Amino acid sequence: MINAGFTGILLCIAVASIAAPVNITGTIIQNGGGPLKDVTVSLCGIHNLTATTDESGRFSLITPVEIISSTALNSVPASLQIQKRELVINSVYEMFDGFITIFSSNGVILFSRNFANQPGSLLSLKIPLHASNISFLRFKINQYSGTIPLIKIGNDFYLKNQKLNSVQHAGLSKAKAMSAPDTLIASKKGFYDRRITLSSYTIKDTAISMDSLRNCSGTTLKSAGSCSNHKLLIGTAVSSNKLTNLAAQEFNYVTAENEMKWETIEPRENSFNFTPGDAIVNWAQQNGMKIKGHTLVWHAQLPSWVSQVRGRDRVLNIMKNHIEKVMGHFGSKIQAWDVVNEAFVGENDAGEGTVAMRNSVFYNEIGPDYVKLAFQIAREYADNHGMQDIKLYYNDASLEGDHNKTDFARKIIKQWIDDGTPIDGIGFETHLGPPNNLATAENLKGHMQFYADLGLDVIISEWDVNLCGNKISKSEQLELYYQMTRVCVAQPRCVAITFWGINDQDSWLNTFNTSECNGANSQSLLFSNGQKKDTYYKVLDALNGK
Ligand code: XIL
Repeated sequence: MINAGFTGILLCIAVASIAAPVNITGTIIQNGGGPLKDVTVSLCGIHNLTATTDESGRFSLITPVEIISSTALNSVPASLQIQKRELVINSVYEMFDGFITIFSSNGVILFSRNFANQPGSLLSLKIPLHASNISFLRFKINQYSGTIPLIKIGNDFYLKNQKLNSVQHAGLSKAKAMSAPDTLIASKKGFYDRRITLSSYTIKDTAISMDSLRNCSGTTLKSAGSCSNHKLLIGTAVSSNKLTNLAAQEFNYVTAENEMKWETIEPRENSFNFTPGDAIVNWAQQNGMKIKGHTLVWHAQLPSWVSQVRGRDRVLNIMKNHIEKVMGHFGSKIQAWDVVNEAFVGENDAGEGTVAMRNSVFYNEIGPDYVKLAFQIAREYADNHGMQDIKLYYNDASLEGDHNKTDFARKIIKQWIDDGTPIDGIGFETHLGPPNNLATAENLKGHMQFYADLGLDVIISEWDVNLCGNKISKSEQLELYYQMTRVCVAQPRCVAITFWGINDQDSWLNTFNTSECNGANSQSLLFSNGQKKDTYYKVLDALNGK
């Protein structure tokens, strides 16, 4: 039954709406190899629709089920709105017929509600909390149906591409602008799943490549990290006075533990000291290692001449000059920069309690847009000086566990991305164990997937697992190193793992604080006095796919 007042509009809609069936065809090949047979291809948002590739790797996903194409979604005479967990459908009908179904990102139905001849133009329902990180909401309201990606942050849900800070009003007209009506999943035993964001349900002859699962026998961390198509750089933090053969044998990625921080590199205004940083860069280049620059804009290890400056323009000029001079000096010898470091602050190092943007001189004087400006300055400088390939990262601690800081970070980083901030990747410091946060591999997996779904690379950037006396047991530590390495290996957007040091004896944790975790109690890394520990073999196994 249709409300008479809207009949005219509905007639119009009937003409304007393009009911498009799914029609996706393509070929799947093995990365670096030939066509792949018996790959299962399915869609997250449409249940029970699968295809299998033939000898030439070809598949076609075709359904007679009519899906409203994204261009016609704005014609649906209803709007969907989510506030926290409450989904409200507001339509012109006085009688609903249809369903709402929520799928997990691998196509499992998490929640389904049918409404047959439900009276009233408003319908509200609660989304269950167990819906995972990214899922899909599929609706049918009378003769109209469609699919909208759904994002969960903490216990709140959002329709994809909506601004997170305002009231969530997702009129379906907005769904028109959505770039992702659905996700296609290709899976085959012995291969990593591929997830491809779809721009439409009609895609002809798409070419998809898949990586085989690792079955490697690397005998060093770096060779195990590079052995399959999904290559991982394996890195360590080093000091310019300890550039060892062991480091060069095991690692192919390097971060200066302190030498590229502001206090060392620009101790007085516009007076630069690149000597210790250059020593690391030269050594890394001689040993065929890639380099991550750490870090351009950070509140800590910042000389007082910077923190004392007042005024937006003056601090902005100082920040710009620093970014450009430092990037200009190292040029393309550096493959990625931590442009902004640790812009969020919680009540403690575990990221609990109230979380906010940190009150640094950059935040206080320039304003909250300092992060976007720093990335824009870095991107523009790189692009104008032949360094288009340099990756720009945001790096922070406690992004890996499930706690307040993580929720805050997900929300703000998504806002930065929505706002066009040129960020290429997110560094998860992954300092685990007291006094830092503790996360499970499942937590890390979910948070990495969140940023990967925003189109970003992810890396483990400063890894250590502090035993802190016996607060973490050795077996817990081994499990964390093993399982989290596997998370990165299985995440196509995970491009590197960097450990925060080589030998336990040199770890920053030994002097990080004066509590029970200091001194020899941390035992947080993969080597002790140059000898491989059990933690080393666990990481090596995980990198080899064992
Ligand atoms: C640490 C270094 O390891 C120490 O040597 C130094 O005294 C303090 O900084 N987060 C970061 C790193 O981004 O730069 C920090 O490194 C550790 C926490």
